[in-house]
This record gives sequence, structure tokens and C-alpha cells, in this order.
Amino acid sequence: MKLRLPLLLPLCLGFISASAQTVIEDFESYEIGTEMDVFRIYGGSAGQAVIEARPNNPNNKALHFTTSSWNAFPCLTLTLPAGTTLADYSAISFDLYRMTDDEDYKVMDIRVDSKQLFQSSYVHHADVGVWTNKKYDLNGIDSDGPTFVISLGVNTPAGNYYIDNIAVKKAADIGYDINDDEQTLRHWAERCGKRVGMSVSNTDNGFWSLMDNDNNMMNKTLYRNFNMVVAGNEMKFDALEPEQGKFNFDAADRLVEYAEKHGMAVRGHTLCWHSQLPAWLNAGSDGSSNGNNYTKQQLLDILKNHITTVVTHYKGRIKEWDVVNEMLSNGGGSMRGSIWYKTIGECYIDSAFVWAHRADPDALLYINDYTVEEMGTTKGDALYNLAKRLVDRKVPIHGVGLQTHVTSGKLDFTKVENNVRRYAALGLNCIFTEVDIKIPKSQFGKESAWQTQANDYYQLAEIQLRNANCPNLVIWGIADPYSWIIGETKGSYGEPLIFSDDYVAKPSFFKLREAYQTAAQAGIGDITANPDHSAEPDPDAMYDLTGRKVNSDYRGFVISNGRKYILR
Ligand code: XIL
Repeated sequence: MKLRLPLLLPLCLGFISASAQTVIEDFESYEIGTEMDVFRIYGGSAGQAVIEARPNNPNNKALHFTTSSWNAFPCLTLTLPAGTTLADYSAISFDLYRMTDDEDYKVMDIRVDSKQLFQSSYVHHADVGVWTNKKYDLNGIDSDGPTFVISLGVNTPAGNYYIDNIAVKKAADIGYDINDDEQTLRHWAERCGKRVGMSVSNTDNGFWSLMDNDNNMMNKTLYRNFNMVVAGNEMKFDALEPEQGKFNFDAADRLVEYAEKHGMAVRGHTLCWHSQLPAWLNAGSDGSSNGNNYTKQQLLDILKNHITTVVTHYKGRIKEWDVVNEMLSNGGGSMRGSIWYKTIGECYIDSAFVWAHRADPDALLYINDYTVEEMGTTKGDALYNLAKRLVDRKVPIHGVGLQTHVTSGKLDFTKVENNVRRYAALGLNCIFTEVDIKIPKSQFGKESAWQTQANDYYQLAEIQLRNANCPNLVIWGIADPYSWIIGETKGSYGEPLIFSDDYVAKPSFFKLREAYQTAAQAGIGDITANPDHSAEPDPDAMYDLTGRKVNSDYRGFVISNGRKYILR
């Protein structure tokens, strides 16, 4: 017996962590052959829900569902642990097993007490012949008591799938009180007059289907903590001009409305890039060919029309744009051989800025690239030289964006800050536009790796705070499981963001917040200490930094009662 003890302990621990979920229906108490209710929408018909032996494991039972027409789902009345209602849980999950003759790419539909919890479009839900665990956020849906009715399944006229182990998951302890302003990032960044931003995208995190649900944790994490938002894909050339001359602003408009509702600024990303170009441009998979043999003039006209239409559409609402993105070659030794550069020449950059400026003279215009964070590197210096040339030629450019897709522990922050400062000397802003700080797979989940990463985020925020020409720091993704880095590095790197699964705050979140909070309370760089952060400037005695009296329409730093405030 003694010998078995060391073996039992790890097993127990494993069991405890898995038990964060409570299985509320495993179908074991039913007789084989029992028929369960079927929920039919839009007059849906033929569907059968029967308890059977579980595929791959005949000693267990599962619910087998078959249909021969659309719009029928297994319908179950389930009971939660005593004393709880659905509001006590954040997610519901179940195992799904699809048979080979089940049609793929159909709509997944889940309703709780007839409230729609989830409806996917036509996407692949699970491979055939294996059990797949599916998990969905409850998004604040509640039940009157411990009992609730759920209908769940795949909407297909040839349905043939099994469901088992329906479980509920307690709301995770996310590490801070998201409802308390003073525990959010946004609160303290705003006290410093800075923007802390986040990218959202349908591809990376399906944000558009969640944006109207204020209880959804992804959405709430965003609007409570950030005062700037960027479309990860939805404002790119292919998204906005899918057919030549025909623009589709639907998704982008919804994001701008969302930002306005939540008092956030929008960064427009991006007007001219070699990647994510529409098929009609025929620029090849890497954006380097000119398959339609456009002349220089034709391509200039295409770019001018795109930039003018997009910037005009958002005039006054999108206050800053990444006008040109990733124009330098990988190593930075030359210009990238994109369709734009190869057909037009480097002046496509100058023209792009001029057209954007004409369309919205008040918008701030940025040039943006990656591996340009440090001064003294080939690519970092190439970007500086390009920006300087544009400034010297009086091209309307207002700043450079350092994407900052980096590996944890690798940045030299002195070189980064020197870089930010040399742009100030040129009269340019220099901001962090797409920050993610990836960790190698071997270090996943390790406290020491998360601390190193937290220090990196902290150092970037400190640079932002110390430098008046660095108003923004934008993070590229809302939670680790959804980061584009996982696909980009084929899984060899990950965990690059400040929230982990279930939007739990990582050390990186706390260090970032510490940077903003300390700056707001103790002062840093241009930011004056304002420990009594509830104090407001006196509207009848506010002065701008040159001592001129201003009124409450003024935007920017003001002095009042001997203190500095930011009016926005
Ligand atoms: C990424 C998106 O996050 C992905 O969803 C998409 O598949 C590829 O593009 N530099 C940029 C961003 O300027 O637009 C890229 O975003 C990441 C690298």
C-alpha cells in the first residue's frame, strides 16, 4: 500500500484541477433506448434523441441524435448543483462525437430556456470519429432555479452525432474586480492622458458576434480595460474593398459605433500594405506580383481611390491611421518588393500620406513596421531614415508605429527608448501599435516566464509614460488562446498577451496597471502627480501649457489650481 501513495497524489491533484467543471448530465442513469425530447424550430421535423452506448466506449452511455431534415435539436431539462443557478457559472461544455455520414460545416445552435446562447455560421465544429470537448460562454444567462432547459446541437438535415458529459464551469477568478474602475488598466492610463489599446478581429477572436453583449467576458474585458481599439483584419484592403470600387464598411462601421458607445478611440489599420490585398488586385500570395499588368498610373489611381474613400468615410471619427504598413523588407536592408513599390516606386508612400491627409486633415498619420523597435538595428535605422526623408520633404506624417511583436526577455529597452526619443526630435510621435510578447513553448505556464514577460510589458509602458510623443500602447489580442502568434509560429511560441484563458489577468496585466497607476499617483516625465485623482479642474480657471485661458471645449493638458489635467 505504502508504495502506491506517491502515485496516488499526482492523480488526485489532476482530478482536483479538472473538477473546476461540474458534470451535470452524463446520461449514465438512463436505460439504453430511452427517448429524450426534441426541440424543433421553424417547424423543423424528423429528429430522434435516444440514449445509446457511447462510441469508442460501450460501457458508457451517451445521447445519440439523428435527423433527416433541418431544425431539430436534442432538448434536455438539466439540474444544477443544489443552491446554484446558471448565474453562478461562466461556461457550459459538452462532448461531441460526429459520425462519418454527418454533414460537416453546419450551424451549431445552443439555447438555454429558449435564449440563444450561441449560433455559429457554417464552420467546422469537430472532426469525425473522435470525441471533442466544446465550451461556450454563458454570457450572464441565468435560470430561475437549479433547473433549466437546454437545446443544443448541429443544425443539419443529415444529423448523426452523440452528446455526452454536459458540464458547467464556475466563473473563473480573474484576479481583479473588473467592475471596480480603480482596478482596471483604462482608469489609470486615462489619468495619465495615455491610450492603452487592444485589437479585436473576427478571425482571431470572433469579436463581432460578442460586441453587443455587455456581459460577455471578452467584450467586458475590452471595454473596461482599454480606451482604444483596432480592427485586427476588418479595415484592411481586402475587407473594405472586396470588389474594385465597391466598398464594404459593415464590420468596420460596427466597430467604430462600438468604440463611440464605450468612449474609446479607434486606430485605423491599415490603408496600404502588401498583405491581405483583395483577389481582384492579382498581387499574388505575398503581394509582390502585378498579375493584371497595371501601369504605374493605374495603380496610383487604385490606391488613391481606396485611401480617399476609406479616410473620407471615417473623417472625424477615426482620428489616426496606419497609412503604410510593413514597407521595409524583412531584414530592413531595402524596401519591400510589394506590388506598390515595384510598380510605382518609393513615392507610393509619399502619395499615400498626401491622399490620407487631404481626405481628413485632422487625422494623425502613421507609418508602421515590425522589428523596428530598437535604435541601432538595420531595420530600426531604416525606418528612421525613411521617416526623416518624409519629414524633410514635408510629407504630412505625424508618427511611426513600432509593431512590437517580440520574444519575451529579448528587447533592449534603452535602445527602444532612444528610438522613441529620436523621433521626438524629428517632431514625430512614436507609438507601440501591435504589442505581443511571445514565450517559447517549453516555458508555457511557467511563473518565471510570465514574470519576465510582465517586466517587458512594464518597461514598454514606462517608455510610453516617460515620453510625451508616445501617446499609445496597443496590444495585439485579447487573450492568449486567441493570439495570431500561435498560428504564425506553428505553435512553437504562445502566451504573448496579458490575459490567459477565461480572461484571467496575468502578471503582465498587473505590471502594466502598476506602471499607469504609479505614474498617475506619483508623476513621471510630463505627467504631474495627481494623487487626489477625483479632483476636477476648475472650469473657470483652466490654462493651456502656454498660459492661455481655455474653456471646457479644449482638448489636451490644462493647468488648474496649480495641477495638470488632461481634457479629452
Ligand atoms: C494579423 C491578424 O492578427 C491575423 O488574424 C491575420 O491572419 C494576419 O494578420 N502585422 C500587422 C497585422 O500589421 O495586421 C497582422 O495581423 C499581424 C502582423
